[in-house]
Amino acid sequence: MTTSVISAAASTRTTASAQGSIELRQVRKTYGDVVAVDELDLVVEPGEFVTLLGPSGSGKTTTMMMVAGFEEHTSGSVLIDGKPVDSLPPRDRNLGVVFQNYALFPHMSARENVEFALRMRKIPKAERRQRADSALERVGLGKMGDRKPRQLSGGQQQRVALARSLVFNPAALLLDEPMAALDKRLREHMQEEIKTLQKSLGISVLFVTHDQDEAMAMSDRIVVMKDGRIVQSGPPEEVYNHPLTDWVASFLGDTNLIPCTVLERKDGEALVDLGGLGLGRVRDRGVTGEKYAVSIRPENLKFSSEASTDNCGKASLVSSTNLGATVRHRLTAGGHELQVRELSSDASGRPASGAELFVTWEPDKAQLLVLEQ
Ligand SMILES: Nc1ncnc2c1ncn2[C@@H]1O[C@H](COP(=O)(O)OP(=O)(O)O)[C@@H](O)[C@H]1O
Ligand SMILES: [Mg+2]
Repeated sequence: MTTSVISAAASTRTTASAQGSIELRQVRKTYGDVVAVDELDLVVEPGEFVTLLGPSGSGKTTTMMMVAGFEEHTSGSVLIDGKPVDSLPPRDRNLGVVFQNYALFPHMSARENVEFALRMRKIPKAERRQRADSALERVGLGKMGDRKPRQLSGGQQQRVALARSLVFNPAALLLDEPMAALDKRLREHMQEEIKTLQKSLGISVLFVTHDQDEAMAMSDRIVVMKDGRIVQSGPPEEVYNHPLTDWVASFLGDTNLIPCTVLERKDGEALVDLGGLGLGRVRDRGVTGEKYAVSIRPENLKFSSEASTDNCGKASLVSSTNLGATVRHRLTAGGHELQVRELSSDASGRPASGAELFVTWEPDKAQLLVLEQ
């Protein structure tokens, strides 16, 4: 498969791109006693790709439904291109929408599926056809307009849904787990295609996933949600490398969490007491005397052949598992269970389980976190 089937998008564009900013101000949604979304503040800038990432039930879909206009919020305001749209029905919000169940009409061809909303709006047949074909062209299905959904693969059906959302040249796209039904390889392929399409159209996207790899791969900015609230927002590398709480660190991949107390802060580092692991230096943060957790990603914890005074723990190897490209080592050190991950090519010659060794880390790779869990 190539990654370029929809890269012709820019050349088939028919209208100038709209601005496409989305803003939520103190948006709240309750269902009886359940607070689904709690005073959410969020801005998607024109052309930005923002992902809501959170576990099931964290309020992602409810947020999207309120932006799209399919759910009414309990309080707050939604603005598109700076204008409140709270009283506008979905069709007047100028948004393209693909939800998880992007059901296509099975008895209609791909083209008829894309044309459907245009037909509802009484757009003349010739224009309808031209716009539907142009939208199908954008997603690489220019030659497949006559096929019924059952004559298309899962990925192609997903592209028809995408074409359907683009046919009005919307100001922004709302995509709620649009690839949930696809297998892993196809998902990764579609991630690249959607990203390419978004860039070439210069369109803003509000995207939803519960998959941290997908969020990392696609987003300009990740907004991490939990219990209807935003717990952290930032570029993918920032959220991954500098999570604010132990919950965010654990949700975005594997990490070693070690409880600690801050002893002093100086020269851009904090000196912490790590209990059985001794003293350690970490990225500066926190309040002297307070308790935190230190988060060190498994790929940032390194083996060392000799002891040093701080940033060093004596460890005992419990097991090593070869995962193909990388090896995962489990260790115990100072009463903690730790994980080290290294490239398989670096792992040859490691001692067998039970061996005594040392682990160490760069202060900049160790993040002090607020305890939330
Ligand atoms: N129609 C509804 N009635 C009652 N509760 C709902 C309804 N829709 C969603 N909820 C609740 O709101 C919360 C957020 O749901 P949702 O937005 O679907 O989360 P997510 O998309 O992150 O999985 C959940 O606790 C869910 O049970
Ligand atoms: Mg959902």
